[in-house]
Amino acid sequence: MSALRTVMPGRFSGLSIKLIVTIIAVILAVEVVVYLPSVASFRASWLADRMRVGMVAARVLDAVPDVPALPRSLTDRLLTSAGANAIVYRRDGQSQLIELAEPVMPDRVVTADIRETNPATLILGALDTLFAGPGRTLRIVGEGDVDESSVEILMPERPLRQDLLAYSSDIVLVSFVIAALTAVALYLMVSRLFIHPVRRLTTNMLAFRQAPENASLILTPSLRRDEIGIAERELAAMEEDLFSMLRQRQHLADLGLAVAKINHDLRNTLTSAQLLSDQVATLDDPKVQRLAPRLVTTLDKAIGFAQSVLDYGRESASRPVLAPVALRGLIEDAAFDARLAGHPTISFHNQAPEALRLNVDQVQLGRLLVNLLKNAREALEAAGGNMQALQVSVSVEERADLLVIAVSDNGPGLPPRARDNLFVAFEGSARAGGTGLGLPIAREIAEAHGGRLVLAETGQGTRFELILPAALRLS
Ligand SMILES: Nc1ncnc2c1ncn2[C@@H]1O[C@H](COP(=O)(O)OP(=O)(O)OP(=O)(O)O)[C@@H](O)[C@H]1O
Ligand SMILES: [Mg+2]
Repeated sequence: MSALRTVMPGRFSGLSIKLIVTIIAVILAVEVVVYLPSVASFRASWLADRMRVGMVAARVLDAVPDVPALPRSLTDRLLTSAGANAIVYRRDGQSQLIELAEPVMPDRVVTADIRETNPATLILGALDTLFAGPGRTLRIVGEGDVDESSVEILMPERPLRQDLLAYSSDIVLVSFVIAALTAVALYLMVSRLFIHPVRRLTTNMLAFRQAPENASLILTPSLRRDEIGIAERELAAMEEDLFSMLRQRQHLADLGLAVAKINHDLRNTLTSAQLLSDQVATLDDPKVQRLAPRLVTTLDKAIGFAQSVLDYGRESASRPVLAPVALRGLIEDAAFDARLAGHPTISFHNQAPEALRLNVDQVQLGRLLVNLLKNAREALEAAGGNMQALQVSVSVEERADLLVIAVSDNGPGLPPRARDNLFVAFEGSARAGGTGLGLPIAREIAEAHGGRLVLAETGQGTRFELILPAALRLS
């Protein structure tokens, strides 16, 4: 288990805070999108209201034959009720103007045409009013109620701007209240539905990882049917599996230790028995002479078995110690240990290049080769009678970024029983006296070197390939 310990993020650095910030940002963005058209339409209706008063004035002007003669009090009242400095009525190419008794000089005139319907222009107009400084004069233009006539109202922009500002601040206030309420409601909901269950999952993972042998930490899944429910159930199942696997492993390890101890003593006892049997073999009694060799081979086998079981325990535990090794020499030694070198009926061919050096564990790789070569010899010896020109060879080739060391023989191929349980410890043996450990050990060694051991061919001969990363090659 890695020493690195993941800790749960705090309330304000995990999912919750990200969620709150996202919700508020989204709501405010929506509010802005809603605000723009609404402020534009507020301004449009404000202008239309003023225009309505302007129309009343226009109608008066239209009805009066002599406008300049109108009493001042009347024109001033008309103008102040519209909040205007001046009203112009145009009809048939003629203009009529009424203005306050004390005319106001128009300053920085900005025109608002109430016939404008383009939403973008309306929004821009509203923003322009809001962000322009005070002191501008507003010129509202609209159609008169008769064809070809128009009405213009000149007035200060200030009242419009003040109303827009008041309206905007109302909207901003309402927006904030809505955003806050929605954010809290959404947060509570999402938190209950998602964040809380996800936190429960992560907390459980962290705790279980620290103590996978503690069954009380296995998650109790809820009854949810959605993805989170599935995740909970899968996690619980995984934890359950891991828990029982660990327990099983522990039991096997305990048993293995006991077997190793018994085996060790057994081997020593057998070795003593072997010494005795050697002594017995020297006796002259013909009966003893007949039985002694059988006794010796039986004891040999028993000792071999005890030895390889011990080796298996030891071999799988150690990690390869890499060092430069000349492959050809290593194969030579392995062939000798596998009693292939100088064999009376089997010819051995070592095709590894002289100069090839690898960065491997010499003892482990040697053992791997011995196991493969011994298997080949045993297979050929067993089938020996029926075959001619028995041979075993080791060759090396490079494929892409891989180095392949192949051990081949022209023997009978693997028996089905061996093929079915290939590489399974104690199961794969299909020959009398075999332990079924040779290939599992060889595969473990290959994997510990970052490579693989595969059965490449069987039938007319057998070919095992040890596939190593080319990076292990030194020259
Ligand atoms: N080159 C081969 N040709 C034919 N059969 C083979 C060959 N290599 C392995 N086998 C078969 O595969 C079986 C398993 O081999 P493995 O080396 O794992 O166990 P073993 O040789 O039976 O016992 P051990 O090697 O532990 O003494 C062998 O019993 C044999 O039947
Ligand atoms: Mg073997």
